Amino acid sequence: MEVKHSYAAENAIEVKGLQKSFKDVEVLHGIDIAVRRGSILALLGPNGAGKTTTVRILSTLLPPDGGEARVNGYDVVREACDVRASIGLTGQFAAVDPYLTGEENLLMLGRLYRLSHADARGRTQELLERFDLVEAAHRPVKTYSGGMKRRLDLAMSLIAAPPIIFLDEPTTGLDPRSRLAMWALIKDLANSGATILLTTQYMDEADYLADWIVVIDEGRVIAEGDANSLKARVGSEHIDLVIARNSSFMLAQQAIGIRQLQANSEQRVLTIVASDGPATLKNALVRLEEAQVEIESVSMRRPTLDDVFLFLTGNGARGNGSHAHGEETSHE
Ligand SMILES: Nc1ncnc2c1ncn2[C@@H]1O[C@H](COP(=O)(O)OP(=O)(O)OP(=O)(O)O)[C@@H](O)[C@H]1O
Ligand SMILES: [Mg+2]
Repeated sequence: MEVKHSYAAENAIEVKGLQKSFKDVEVLHGIDIAVRRGSILALLGPNGAGKTTTVRILSTLLPPDGGEARVNGYDVVREACDVRASIGLTGQFAAVDPYLTGEENLLMLGRLYRLSHADARGRTQELLERFDLVEAAHRPVKTYSGGMKRRLDLAMSLIAAPPIIFLDEPTTGLDPRSRLAMWALIKDLANSGATILLTTQYMDEADYLADWIVVIDEGRVIAEGDANSLKARVGSEHIDLVIARNSSFMLAQQAIGIRQLQANSEQRVLTIVASDGPATLKNALVRLEEAQVEIESVSMRRPTLDDVFLFLTGNGARGNGSHAHGEETSHE
C-alpha cells in the first residue's frame, strides 16, 4: 500500500481529489496526480477530458472547488504567489503579442519578471538561439509559422528559468517536422532538470516523452502507468479484418469470439488485439475460413489512442470474461 496522505518532497507536483465545476456541471471529479521532480508526466485525454482545466488550476489561473494541489511544495490556493514564481506555462493557445517581434516579446516578459535590462537581453538571446529563432527575431510574430509561434511561446514560459513547466498540448496543429523539433526541446528541458507536466491527445507523444502517463476521461483518472505498462494493457498490435460482405459480418463476429475488440458494421471492420502476435492473426484467419467468411483485406497496426480509450473505458473485449462490444449489441 502506498502512503497517500503526506506530501512527498520528491514530488514537484501533487494533486489530491481535485474537483472543479462550471456552474453546476462538474468537470473534474476528484483527480489524483503526482509528478516526481525532474520527470515528464503526460496528462493524456480526449477533447473535454479536463486537461486544460487541471493545468489552469495548477498554474493558479483558476481556483479549485475541492481537493488539494501543491506545486513545488506550495498550495495553489493559499500560496499562489510562490506557485507562480515556480512555474512556466505554455498554453494551448499561444499568449504572444502578434504585433511585437519575437525578441520584443521576450524582452518585455523578462522585464515583467523584473530581470535587469542586461539580464533580460542575455536571457532573450540565449532563448532565441536555443529555440532556433535568431533569424526571425526581428520580425513581428504575426508573420511566424505555427511551429515558430509554439517555440516562441515555450521560450517565453522559460524566461525566468522556472523549475516546473506546464505545457498544454504543445504540439497540436504542428506539422511532423515541427513536432519532432518540439519533442527534442521538451526532452532537453527535462534533461536539464526541469519537471514537466504536459497535456496531449496523442498516445505516441505521451509514449515518446513521458516517464509516467495519467489517462483522464470526463474528469476522472481512468488509468496510469509508464508507456509500456499502458500499451501492454491494450495489446501490442491490432489487426483490422475487413469482411467482404455485409451479410456475413455477424457470422464473422461469432467466429472470432471474445477476442474481438471493436466491430464497425458499417465499414465491415473487425478489430482484434494481436496478443499472441502473428499467431493471433493466423488463428483468426483459420476461424473465418472454417466459418466460410470471405475477407476483403487484413492489416496489422499499432494501437491508437482510440483503441486505448475503448479498452480502458470498458468497451473492448479483454479476454478475461468481459463482453466484446459486438456481443453486447447483438440480442440473442
Ligand atoms: N469556463 C468554462 N465554463 C464552462 N465550462 C467549461 C469552462 N472551461 C471548460 N469547461 C468545460 O469543462 C470540460 C473540460 O474542459 P477542458 O478545456 O479542461 O478539456 P480539455 O481536456 O483541455 O479538452 P481539449 O482537448 O479540447 O483542450 C469541458 O466539458 C468544457 O466544456
Ligand atoms: Mg485543453
